[in-house]
This record gives sequence, structure tokens and C-alpha cells, in this order.
Amino acid sequence: MILVFGSLNIDLVAQVPVIPGPGRTVLAPSYQTHFGGKGANQAVAAARMAGPGHVRMAGRVGSDGFGDRAIENLRANGVDVDLVIRASEPTGCAFITVDQAGENAITVASGANNSTSASDLPAALFGPDTALVLQMEVPFAQAVEAARRTASASGTVIWNLAPVPEKMTREMVTELLAVTDHLIVNEHEALDAAAAVGLAPPDYTAAATELARIGDLTCIVTAGAQGALAVAADGTCRRAPAPRITPVDTTGAGDTFVGAFAAMIHEKVPLQTALQVGCEAAARKCLEPGAQAGMPMRAKIPSLA
Ligand code: RIB
Repeated sequence: MILVFGSLNIDLVAQVPVIPGPGRTVLAPSYQTHFGGKGANQAVAAARMAGPGHVRMAGRVGSDGFGDRAIENLRANGVDVDLVIRASEPTGCAFITVDQAGENAITVASGANNSTSASDLPAALFGPDTALVLQMEVPFAQAVEAARRTASASGTVIWNLAPVPEKMTREMVTELLAVTDHLIVNEHEALDAAAAVGLAPPDYTAAATELARIGDLTCIVTAGAQGALAVAADGTCRRAPAPRITPVDTTGAGDTFVGAFAAMIHEKVPLQTALQVGCEAAARKCLEPGAQAGMPMRAKIPSLA
């Protein structure tokens, strides 16, 4: 089973000519409402690869209409939602601007995500078949606790270090590396994580190599149009190219990679295939607006045809 422990949001998205800087206002003709949250996005991406009945989502939403819709959307995507619990805070909400190149800027109001707790996870969930997928939009200590429980049951921990918190301490990164099997970061997150443990690598490949060595794990870096690379603890490096596309909206591309990659790792395909599938799924997502709408079903992935 693939268990995603993380955030659920509703995304309010405006298409803008240019993403405003501090003190600036831009006008957008309208806005759209999409399903989001890194946790929910990764659960949907994984379910589109693995099929119904293989993915469970654990997290919290409010007792409000946004919460109803977030749960119903996951259910419609074949994700088990029994571990999505109602909190007294409002459902998480993300305010997203997307520019003409498909790049975005995101502000997340965490709401109910902030009360997500590892105590919601029954012991029976954890075993050697559990692939736990984590991000950084729920309380860090709770994510670590879920990871520890997975590791002690010989399960697999896949941790997407996104978004990087304002204050990411050496202790946090050290704790995270100690419980993770597959660390997934983008170029900036790789350098930020390395810096937090006192390193100053010249580039993201060197950062991934150091993180993999320190954590005795595989570090995967997603690099947009440059594809992805995976560095094992012994320094072995694999790369996968990204399909060439003209993006409409990159929101959720990283989440699509993570979900698809997790589904492949859970299936125990070779690492090279998991990397390639992640890149193909992420590129396809970018062809449609919204975090989840463009996430492909398995049949649309060339490497799996
Ligand atoms: O990674 C994209 C996601 O980040 C959005 O869906 C938004 O909800 C934020 O969590």
C-alpha cells in the first residue's frame, strides 16, 4: 500500500501577465478553483499510476465545503480517504498566481493541515509493503513520527522536501535523512538541504551526492526541462531526460513526479524506470491548468506502454 501522509488544499488560481513583486498589484481577468495540497496531489498522481485500491491518504481538512470537496475528489480518484479527519480549523487553501510562461508563485494558508497527527495512523498500517510518502506541509515532528513507524516496520519512506521551511535547521535535515530511503528535491531544495547540514556544494548534483552519502539513501533531484537524476549512497548516478513540452501550468509537476515515482517504487520496478516514468508523468501534467487535472493515467506513459 502507498500511504500519503500530508496536506490537502483547495487552490485558488489566477492567470496573471506577470507575478507581482512586493508592494505590487496585478489584475487577472478571473480565477479558477482547483484541488491541491502537495499530499493530495501526490496521492492522486500515485493512484493514476497504481490504480484504485492501492493508495491511502492520511491528513486533515476542515468541517467546511472545501473539506467535503477535497475528500470527494480523492475518492473519485480511487484514493482511500478513511484516514482523512475533520479538524476545527478551515480546510487548507493555496493562493496561486500563474504567469504566461506557466511559472507560478504560491501562498499556502495551512488551516487544518497544521493539526495533522501521526496518532491518527493505526499500527496495522505499517509493514514491509508500506511505501510512505511525505512532504513539508504538515507538522514536521508528525511526519518524522510516521516515517519512524514505517522504518521500524521495514517499510519504505519517500520524502519530498518541499516546500523548504523558512527555518530549516541542521537537526531537522539530520532527522529526515536518518529515516528516509528516497529523498526527492528540486535543484534549490537540494542546495538548501545541503546548506542546512553545513555543506556548500558547487551544484545540485554534488548536493545530492552528499545528501545520499550522509543519509545512506537515494537522493532524487527533479530539474524541470533537464529531467531528473538519482544518486545512490555509493555515489552511483542515474539520469532520465524530460520530454520536450511547452508548459501551460507547472503547478503540481513536482507532485506528479513524486506520486508516479512512489507508485513505481512500490511496484519494485528498476530505479531507472521509476525516474523515467516520473519525468514523463510530470511533463504531461504541465499541459493542463491546475495541479491535478493534467496528471496522466498509467496508459498515457510511454515507458509503460
Ligand atoms: O505543489 C503544488 C501545491 O502546492 C498546490 O496544489 C498548492 O496547494 C500547494 O500545496
